[in-house]
Amino acid sequence: MRVLMVASESVPFAKTGGLADVIGALPRALVRLGHAVDVVMPRYRSVAGGEPVARVQVRMAGTARSADVYATVADGVRTLFVHQPDYFDREYLYGTGNDDYRDNAERFAFLARSALEWGASSGTAYDVVHAHDWQGGLVPLLLQREYGSAPAFRGAPAVLTIHNLAFQGLFDAAWLPRLGLGWDLMRTDALEYFGRISFLKAGIVFSRTITTVSPRYAVEIQSPELGCGFDGILRHRSADLVGILNGIDTDQWDPARDPNLPAPYDTSNLRGKAASKRLVLEVFGLAAGAEARRRPLVGLISRLVDQKGFDLIAAIAPELSALDASFVLLGSGEPRYEDLWRALAARHPDRIGTRFGFDEALAHRIEAGADIFLMPSRFEPCGLNQMYSLRYGTVPVVRATGGLSDTVRNVERGKSGGTGVVFEPYSPEALLAALRRALHTFQNRSVWRRIQLAGMQQDFSWDRSARQYAETYKRATI
Ligand code: ADP
Ligand code: GLC
Repeated sequence: MRVLMVASESVPFAKTGGLADVIGALPRALVRLGHAVDVVMPRYRSVAGGEPVARVQVRMAGTARSADVYATVADGVRTLFVHQPDYFDREYLYGTGNDDYRDNAERFAFLARSALEWGASSGTAYDVVHAHDWQGGLVPLLLQREYGSAPAFRGAPAVLTIHNLAFQGLFDAAWLPRLGLGWDLMRTDALEYFGRISFLKAGIVFSRTITTVSPRYAVEIQSPELGCGFDGILRHRSADLVGILNGIDTDQWDPARDPNLPAPYDTSNLRGKAASKRLVLEVFGLAAGAEARRRPLVGLISRLVDQKGFDLIAAIAPELSALDASFVLLGSGEPRYEDLWRALAARHPDRIGTRFGFDEALAHRIEAGADIFLMPSRFEPCGLNQMYSLRYGTVPVVRATGGLSDTVRNVERGKSGGTGVVFEPYSPEALLAALRRALHTFQNRSVWRRIQLAGMQQDFSWDRSARQYAETYKRATI
């Protein structure tokens, strides 16, 4: 199959979250299965390299704007970067913190149009067009309305993947004409959403197939609790909605050959893990003597937002710091959570360390050095860090939601095969009880080792997921 993918971020070019990991890995896995994949994304300021290969003209609201398309090929995947400095040569991908760039509607409409414009003139005949999240949401709409008859796309269905339903690409309806879209789309069975327009809704309505990133999340988003107002329309399309669990990039995330670690380790010998623990304690300026190294180390790597359960953690802050454990947090996000963690670290400088910002290498070291990884999400479409943790012998403590529930098996007394501690209710008490249970279990070395090994032996490689995508593409074309 020849696939044209459109997404707003991809490793190693630009990343704010798990979407980038997926776009960096899924196309390569598809290529390994014998498919051909072109990925179109913006040429942000952070994107270096690539060669200009084409120029596209995009017409929106009567004015034409051109963009150079740069290309680079790695592992058989061609990535095409839309170079339009007015839109994409900026410090951030989407804006600062909660302040989105005011022209995001225009920026990502431009991406969608450029991608299809490029595809139409590329000389390739695509079998399927695969868009991701709200930033790619207009692609299915434009494919159906404007590009369906182009020889490159004749009969090609659109597939949309929802990585996070909470981000819906909502904009004032007044944008419609400026995006070159008609007012006829301002209907509840098209783009209209409570008086505004939603790019994600465009993707859902106009795609042949909708996928999301775990089986459980595919069910959850059809319920009012986690449907973010979209549950009705998703129930309506439930026959075309599938959940495919993300994989992880097992080349980049492999404790046996991770260049970020002081010593490699694997299931046959976990000694190298202790070197990472020591390094992490030192890097964060925590106590790192023999006694401190025996104390369990809890790691967190996350966007500091409610989705990830930071309100729950805040609710147990006093009890948390009284636990006999060390904590390291790497993340960025809401200032109130940064302040809280800063205060905790100031009060317990020997046991609690924080680093605010984005640091890929440190993320690897924490995954290796921590004993326990904490991820008490309110909702989690898939989540990647808990899978990295499992692979690194770091026992995850997670809430039973979305992909967390699909990837971590609760450790239960008398039962084998558990890989982590899973708690159900979204409550501070349940979180604290889960943490206590993990810390208690940590004291039993042989049980702990068994849990670690069970996690390390899980197979989360992309091949299986990529096969499911390929099947989904095939089904969409019939
Ligand atoms: P989400 O995409 O919702 O943020 P995921 O678990 O799917 O959650 O993916 C998050 C990705 O971003 C992981 O690869 C994680 O390691 C990485 N990450 C998150 N915050 C940071 C950070 N501050 N520094 C480095 N990597 C981070
Ligand atoms: C989103 C979700 C996360 C998922 C990632 C990649 O950012 O929040 O759970 O793992 O997309 O699909």
